[in-house]
Amino acid sequence: MDPTSLQRLVFLTSLLSCSTNQARLTVTPSSSQVFRDEPVSLRCEDASEGWTVRRNTSRERRTECKVWGTPAGSSCTISPMDPRDSGEYWCESTEGSTSNTITITVSGGSVILQSPALPVMEGDDVTLTCRTKMADPPSADFYKDGVFIGTESDGHMTLLHVSRSDEGLYKCRVQSKESPESRLSVSEKPTTSMEPPTASSAPPASSAPPASSLHLVFRLICHLVVFCPYCISTFLMVSIYRERATGRDQSVSVAMTPPTHAEQGLDDDYDDVMSAVTTEHQF
Ligand SMILES: *[C@@H]1O[C@H](CO)[C@@H](O)[C@H](O)[C@H]1NC(C)=O
Repeated sequence: MDPTSLQRLVFLTSLLSCSTNQARLTVTPSSSQVFRDEPVSLRCEDASEGWTVRRNTSRERRTECKVWGTPAGSSCTISPMDPRDSGEYWCESTEGSTSNTITITVSGGSVILQSPALPVMEGDDVTLTCRTKMADPPSADFYKDGVFIGTESDGHMTLLHVSRSDEGLYKCRVQSKESPESRLSVSEKPTTSMEPPTASSAPPASSAPPASSLHLVFRLICHLVVFCPYCISTFLMVSIYRERATGRDQSVSVAMTPPTHAEQGLDDDYDDVMSAVTTEHQF
């Protein structure tokens, strides 16, 4: 088995065993901005026992749902929201694994921009809605990274077939009242290839929080646990064949290198052992 196929095997096995317990945070309503007094519910999806919603705000760090919301299993409801609830929310397991992060801004003002709280997929159409506390969406001006990009008489701006260049900070304005700014993230279409993610497909550092070191340690242990049975069985097989060879009173090398001149006479035995080892690997 050559090193590349070994790497592939390790990668595939660890994908199967480790990636299945990766939780995802979703929010209802799916908007990165809400008005004060509106309810918001956060849910850890695909989460097993022991995942909780945590948040960072300007005044708290990594506090759990039970401190500021109403927990229900792996979900959490905040009702009503307050501007002090603005911050970053994520799901975290007891081992320290973390999900995606959602930034929620609670406005005490009279205008908000409803933009997707989760990254949108490349090629999707995305609608940004400018809302006032009055029912009907007003005529609104839209801005991206501080630059005016257009006026919509019904308060809805649709971005067609978004690409990475549509990422940025968006806000809207109704008369003289401005909404807070929110980041729109665009993620690459998932590829079907089994190659490990490369630096170019990773989300930009600005929108992705660094993985916690606890999480990395957990992944490492996970990979080792997957890799160990393979190592142990290989080691066992090699030592068993060594023992048998010694039993026949012959010094047969089972090192994975071609035989040297001194071992030329034992070529036949060497080949036998090698083919036996190779056969054992055909699992
Ligand atoms: C939350 O705050 C902690 C401590 O300051 C920091 O290490 C962590 O990266 C923050 N997480 C997010 C998602 O902002």
